[in-house]
Amino acid sequence: MTHLSSLIDQAATACAQAKRGVALTGAGISVESGIPPFRGKGGLWEKIDPMKYAHIDALEADPEEVWRMLFMGIGELLRHAAPNAGHTGLRRLEELGLLQTVITQNVDGLHQKAGSQDVIEFHGSHAVLRCMRCPQRYDWQAVPLTMIPPLCACGAYLRPDVIMFGEPIDVGLLQRSQMLAAQCEVMLVVGTSATVQPAAYLPVIAKRNGACIIEINPEPTELTHHISDITLLGPAGKVMDELVARVAKLR
Ligand code: APR
Repeated sequence: MTHLSSLIDQAATACAQAKRGVALTGAGISVESGIPPFRGKGGLWEKIDPMKYAHIDALEADPEEVWRMLFMGIGELLRHAAPNAGHTGLRRLEELGLLQTVITQNVDGLHQKAGSQDVIEFHGSHAVLRCMRCPQRYDWQAVPLTMIPPLCACGAYLRPDVIMFGEPIDVGLLQRSQMLAAQCEVMLVVGTSATVQPAAYLPVIAKRNGACIIEINPEPTELTHHISDITLLGPAGKVMDELVARVAKLR
């Protein structure tokens, strides 16, 4: 048995025993769906400077530029993306009664497309546009993008309902996520570099409250040596497939 295989066994045993499991996911879980991550080789922030285009100050100063440089490209990528075995594996763990909630930093909607029922969109959703002046929200698909930025019925610009750098996380979502992290017995941390706060702190909260932290990522991260109990080094889809198959056998 390889080292990875024996670690997957350990992780499967921990997952199968958990009454309350929670997952924290990041861009890496969607890489196998054709969506590049933000950091590292081939990452989006290698091509564009996030402080120039993904900060709220940039959006407020020049919405048209941010739409053209960031939002349009992401919208195009997400339009064709389908869930992969990483997303469906988490849905399966939910069906088995082992995973309560997926907290995702992703704005791609793929956990919901895969059928997960309880998903916290920590950084919002790119599928929803909201007005920069009034409370109105629209489905991205329903808004013709003939004019960039598109306009709300009130005449103001629309923007995707995502959290940009410099913006706070919704207090209700933050509190619920922190509570889930504090109460879970297992936290699966899948495809995140764990560099952006406050999401990156959720595994720390879980660990301090006694949870087993299982990390799935092809590369070691900030969490690997001090926070993670079991690190499964590999792509999310392949590792989740194997993990779920072994968990199912233990049920
Ligand atoms: N499977 C699992 N993980 C993978 C895969 C894969 N196939 N491919 C890459 N990864 C890992 C990388 O090794 C990296 O650790 O996914 C991680 C992606 O890290 P980031 O690009 O930093 O993404 P994320 O952690 O989600 O970023 C957090 O930063 O810019 C913001 O708002 C953005 O929500 C995002 C936040």
